[in-house]
Amino acid sequence: MEYRTYRGERLSEVGLGCYGVGGAYGAKDPDQFVGLFRRAVELGVTFFDTADVYGPGEQVLGRALAPFRDRVWIATKVGASEGGKPDCSRAHIVAACEQSLRRLGVEQIDLYQIHFDDPQTPVAETVGALDELAAAGKIRYYGVGHLSPGRVAEYLVAGHVFSMLIELSAVARGALERTAPLCRAHGVGLIAFSVTGRGLLTGAIGPDTAFGADDIRRLDPLFQRARRASGLRIAGEMRKLGERYGKSPVQVAIAWVLAHPNVVCALTGPSTVVHLEENLGGSGWTIHADDLAALDCLLKAEDERLRREQVAELCAILEGEPLPEQAFTDLVYVLETLVELGLAEEQQVMPAFRQLWVLRADPDPTELARIHAGLQEQFLPVVKDRSSDDSPPGRSQRGRR
Ligand SMILES: NC(=O)c1ccc[n+]([C@@H]2O[C@H](COP(=O)([O-])OP(=O)(O)OC[C@H]3O[C@@H](n4cnc5c(N)ncnc54)[C@H](OP(=O)(O)O)[C@@H]3O)[C@@H](O)[C@H]2O)c1
Repeated sequence: MEYRTYRGERLSEVGLGCYGVGGAYGAKDPDQFVGLFRRAVELGVTFFDTADVYGPGEQVLGRALAPFRDRVWIATKVGASEGGKPDCSRAHIVAACEQSLRRLGVEQIDLYQIHFDDPQTPVAETVGALDELAAAGKIRYYGVGHLSPGRVAEYLVAGHVFSMLIELSAVARGALERTAPLCRAHGVGLIAFSVTGRGLLTGAIGPDTAFGADDIRRLDPLFQRARRASGLRIAGEMRKLGERYGKSPVQVAIAWVLAHPNVVCALTGPSTVVHLEENLGGSGWTIHADDLAALDCLLKAEDERLRREQVAELCAILEGEPLPEQAFTDLVYVLETLVELGLAEEQQVMPAFRQLWVLRADPDPTELARIHAGLQEQFLPVVKDRSSDDSPPGRSQRGRR
């Protein structure tokens, strides 16, 4: 394991997370992670991440790391009240920090991260609470994650932000353009998460891999339609490159993340020791600059192809009749893709997203058809407009390009 020194702190290049402990990737026995985290410490991992909303993640991590407390960093997150409503008020943060300290069984949290945006609370109030906790010794540093670029900018100006959490892998590169430059400008380090593409870049997932009802990847747009196909093509490139270096696809995927400026730590979340040991091999070597540049070209071409395919998919979904067994996943895909392609702002799709989310346990076809009709009316014209822009020369309605 290699280490990076950032603001005088030495962190392992690869860190481990607890999202899977809470069952995000299918139900797991939380106890299996105790041995996994201890094996990680033996192999040199010093950075561990959890959250107050990752089921038993804090308790399991605290228990596993208790014998090594002075050797490891423990990061956790705050920002949602009971019931999942965003809450970054001073009162909530101060109370939630006490609860996290108790669950982790520690006297101080090394890194306390804002997990969700709370539009009702001014950033100054949240930052004030975090500074107070730092002054009291309850936390050493604080960071932010899952925020819009505008909100990140507010935090960077108002507070003493140590780090920013971003999703980063070869199949999820949006943050490189959206928030990473802002952090770079402020000298703030990036903690990258889901660096294996939630398993997509490991070679273990194929075009027909099905996920259980309790696995978030069943709904995650990354694993649907053209996005999964694109991800698998990228995984194929990682495999080819790995063959030249004697590395596995996931080791290339992690080394690719670590090659980005300002990345302080790459977080992965395996649930088996075999996967853990493989992933730690993403550290300790580098991809040659020429290969990185070639990958970059390939990823840009892949983006172009995916963008065209997704516009066509959005047209087909919005114009067609919703298929009951697929409507829920398709509508989530539409909402995320509209934002990703810059065809809608996040605030524009949030009302439909909230309506959808309450239906996830019981997707009533009539309600889904109503949401589908609303999205069709609101977004089909803009999608069609983009689609006509994508037409080859001579076929475009406007005769452009
Ligand atoms: N995901 C988020 O939204 C999010 C947000 C903020 C912070 N974080 C933090 O970042 C951490 C890392 O993110 P993540 O958990 O999404 O990481 P990840 O490692 O990209 O995804 C974990 C998934 O990938 C699979 N996987 C990992 N390595 C594998 C390998 N070598 N071979 C086959 N499958 C493999 C795991 O399967 P197995 O279980 O079979 O090993 C698991 O299903 C989280 O645990 C959390 O602490 C995550």
